[in-house]
Amino acid sequence: MSTSPASGADWLRRDLDVLWHPCTQMREHQHGLLPLVPIERGEGAWLYDFEGRRYLDAVSSWWTNLFGHAEPRIGAAIARQAQQLEQVILAGFGHAPAIELAEALLRLSPRAEGTPPFTKVFYADNGSAGVEVALKMSFHSHRNRGDTRRTRFIALSNSYHGETLGALAVSDIPLYRRVYAPLLITPVFTPSPDAWDAQPGESAKDCAERAAQSLDALLQREGDTVSAMIIEPLVQCAGGMRMHHPHYLKRARELCSRHGVHLIADEIAVGFGRTGTLFACEQAGIAPDLMCVSKGLTGGFLPLAAVLAPQHVYDDFLDDSRERAFLHSHSYTGNPLACAAARATLGIFDSEPVLERNRITSARMAALAAPLAAHPNVAEVRQTGMILAMELVADKATRAPLPANQRAGLRAYRHAMEQGVVLRPLGDVLYWMPPYCIDEEGLDQLARVTASALAKAVEGL
Ligand SMILES: Cc1ncc(COP(=O)(O)O)c(C=O)c1O
Repeated sequence: MSTSPASGADWLRRDLDVLWHPCTQMREHQHGLLPLVPIERGEGAWLYDFEGRRYLDAVSSWWTNLFGHAEPRIGAAIARQAQQLEQVILAGFGHAPAIELAEALLRLSPRAEGTPPFTKVFYADNGSAGVEVALKMSFHSHRNRGDTRRTRFIALSNSYHGETLGALAVSDIPLYRRVYAPLLITPVFTPSPDAWDAQPGESAKDCAERAAQSLDALLQREGDTVSAMIIEPLVQCAGGMRMHHPHYLKRARELCSRHGVHLIADEIAVGFGRTGTLFACEQAGIAPDLMCVSKGLTGGFLPLAAVLAPQHVYDDFLDDSRERAFLHSHSYTGNPLACAAARATLGIFDSEPVLERNRITSARMAALAAPLAAHPNVAEVRQTGMILAMELVADKATRAPLPANQRAGLRAYRHAMEQGVVLRPLGDVLYWMPPYCIDEEGLDQLARVTASALAKAVEGL
């Protein structure tokens, strides 16, 4: 077997021979409808293929990358750690990267009056697994306190929390969920505060309040059977980068506390500066009861997740009985290499004015996207920090969706790839979520290519 193929075409053939790609209808690759691009290397905001063509990674490789590909400080931290300890079972053993990372996460975590601070970190090895941990931890802690009625979860309509069965169960995106529905626990979905759903004359805050009133009614009716409410604070990312007013988080916090329901913040996609603050919850001045982080945690280098918990939840599990312990584990829980990568990533936040720089970058993104708002097929350009999205429609006035057979998102994707930009629309929503190190040249190219991808997407309508 050759390990150094002559060209990208070689890799492409070998790839299709053996790989089954995630979240992909493989037939689209086989029939050439969707480009499949073998990548040789990455640097900064760019990915390079085997022919030397470069692609701007405008989606931060599934929202994981923060400071650029092959960021040297994170790479070096992993290399150093690899010389010392690559993995050790985390049951019965500990190690410096896991401890130091937990200390840093607890120090940086959101705090708010009236909510007990986080004091413990439980590791998992990807975002979905982190969500599973939070759901099980919530349920089990109520149970250990003798409250056996709290067996249900509340999630928002249009939510997304991952693909494992528990995480998928509290997700509400039909494309991913519907087929597996017979296998899933049934949560209670409550209306999303998504400002896109604002009625005429309603502000984003009014819309959030309306959704909060539904939550209030739900909790009044059934609150004593609910273990936790899970929410993606400020932006429902996979649900089409739908954004809501922080008012909802304040109200959800207040209502969950009133009814003894844990509030789980899924900061997996929005944490680590994506929304303009280190954690999205900060913009509402609230702290959740459990918080899940992953993706950007390692700067996009290695899979790792963490669930932050307060002392009282931890204490609920302390007992002589092993059954009352949290017997959840993954083989790579707290992997030293991943923890070292995360420690180095948080070190960059400590040593550089990341959030200030992002404010400049996000202002530039807003200015570059502003002209696109005038396009007759763009119903809205919305932005929260380093996430900017535009919603394509057939008719701006009625917001009627584009016909499905237009395959607008796919057209935009293909065109952008030809122009050297990875835009990976969510349905008919084009969005920018670039690595924080994107420079002026990258931003200009992104805006230029988005404009032409938009034209391609609606061509022939
Ligand atoms: C908000 C949110 N939660 C959970 C997940 C699942 O994370 P992972 O893909 O690492 O399992 C995602 C992934 O996109 C996400 O956006």
